[in-house]
Amino acid sequence: MNFKKTILCIGAGYVGGPTMAMIAYKCPQYKVTVVDINPERIAQWNSDDLPIYEPDLGEIVKTARGRNLFFNTDIEKGIKESEIIFVSVNTPTKTYGTGAGMAADLQYWEKTARQIRDCADSHKIVVEKSTLPVKTALAMERILTSMNNGIRFDVLSNPEFLAEGTAIKDLEDPGRVLIGSRETPDCLKARDALVEIYANWVPKERIITSNIWSSELSKLVSNAFLAQRISSINSISALCEKTDANIIEVSRAVGMDSRVGNKFLNTSVGFGGSCFKKDILNLVYICRSQGLDEVADYWEGVVKINDYQKERFILNMLSAMFNTLAGKRICLFGFAFKANTGDTRESPAISIAGRLAEEKADLIITDPQALKNAMIALSDVNGEIDYVKDPYDAAAGCDAIAVMTEWDIYAGLDFEKIYKSMTKPAFVFDGRNILDHEKLFEIGFNVYPIGKPALTHF
Ligand code: UDX
Ligand code: ADP
Repeated sequence: MNFKKTILCIGAGYVGGPTMAMIAYKCPQYKVTVVDINPERIAQWNSDDLPIYEPDLGEIVKTARGRNLFFNTDIEKGIKESEIIFVSVNTPTKTYGTGAGMAADLQYWEKTARQIRDCADSHKIVVEKSTLPVKTALAMERILTSMNNGIRFDVLSNPEFLAEGTAIKDLEDPGRVLIGSRETPDCLKARDALVEIYANWVPKERIITSNIWSSELSKLVSNAFLAQRISSINSISALCEKTDANIIEVSRAVGMDSRVGNKFLNTSVGFGGSCFKKDILNLVYICRSQGLDEVADYWEGVVKINDYQKERFILNMLSAMFNTLAGKRICLFGFAFKANTGDTRESPAISIAGRLAEEKADLIITDPQALKNAMIALSDVNGEIDYVKDPYDAAAGCDAIAVMTEWDIYAGLDFEKIYKSMTKPAFVFDGRNILDHEKLFEIGFNVYPIGKPALTHF
């Protein structure tokens, strides 16, 4: 079959996989190929057991796969065949050398740029999909054109704003699609080609264009603003606990001001996910390297409050449970960094579990989707850790339940039954404020919400 466009995506992860599946699903006239260096990951994309859990992703992949959506490991062939190449390889925080713990590690991204340069034998539009430091496109252009072989590369920035757990909804009905480019006639033409792809299903007024540096920076700043809201409300949750104010009431009152808005004001044990911390630290690093220490300190505060919130949670547990957790059985309800995903990257549950193990507590972890990733995330943690799918079995015999993830199923559990099966006194630490605290208290639990007075029988 003759396709109208050939599209390649390098990197079959949380961003590349669902994004390309949506393009292929919406545009049967385009051939979309997704490649990855990891053959196991590709095999999973070609199976019924996809490598990531995302509501409705399975249906979309099933419809398009084999029709105009293909997953394989032949990166070279993919580059040669395609007119438009999306790059969505991982850009984790650097763990070594200059900028360790702060800057983005660009090694995977750079390898990919070199590979595109070495394999391309015709004009390519290269689209940065991974979140990258501002000015990365300049480095990409320099690498791509360093062979001086007459092949033209137009680099665009098209950051992905999808959130995990709602990826399909976000891709199908995005608030905005941002495409950044240089202002040269060639780059503007390339930008139009990318606009044309999204215009197949996204209303034109939501496809916004900008200069390439604004586009790169907007992604970092969007995530920084979202995380900042969570740290703001979490910082106030600490004050609520000291003053008998209730964070849910405060958050509702503040959020009803339309200038503030009511979204992303849910207090929690802390934000997680692969993006927020990484992107803020990256922003902080860029600011410092530009000599903007005050700006860097301001944004670094968002991450510091997040760490503080997790540590506060542990200290509250410790003080509530008579200052010792040694030998106590603690059940973590949820391990994913948020509901409706199996992803555990930077999940607050990882540091909470690590700290509980340090206190010599025994851990029982339950989660509907994330147990496999939880085992990997905690493989270095010493101590007794059990992984149990069923929340009733997980809680039985425990001293405390700590809610880490806001899965809907937890609010609907039979807590009378759970209470009967637990060691007394039984505690609930609700790190997401999703349970009915008064009811739990009536059942007999000692209840510690976040940002609300504790309900205890002592
Ligand atoms: C985020 C951005 O939302 C998305 O636009 C970007 O493309 C990638 O990063 P994601 O990390 O998938 O998406 O999830 P998000 O819904 O933003 O949640 C991040 C973390 O914040 C989660 O741990 C979540 O539980 C927490 N959170 C969110 C809160 O603690 N309180 C809130 O009110 C909202
Ligand atoms: P994200 O959340 O940004 O999508 P992931 O870690 O889920 O990040 O996915 C990134 C993917 O990129 C991984 O599957 C990884 O194997 C792949 N990858 C990394 N480097 C390369 C490379 N040089 N060529 C092809 N794929 C790569």
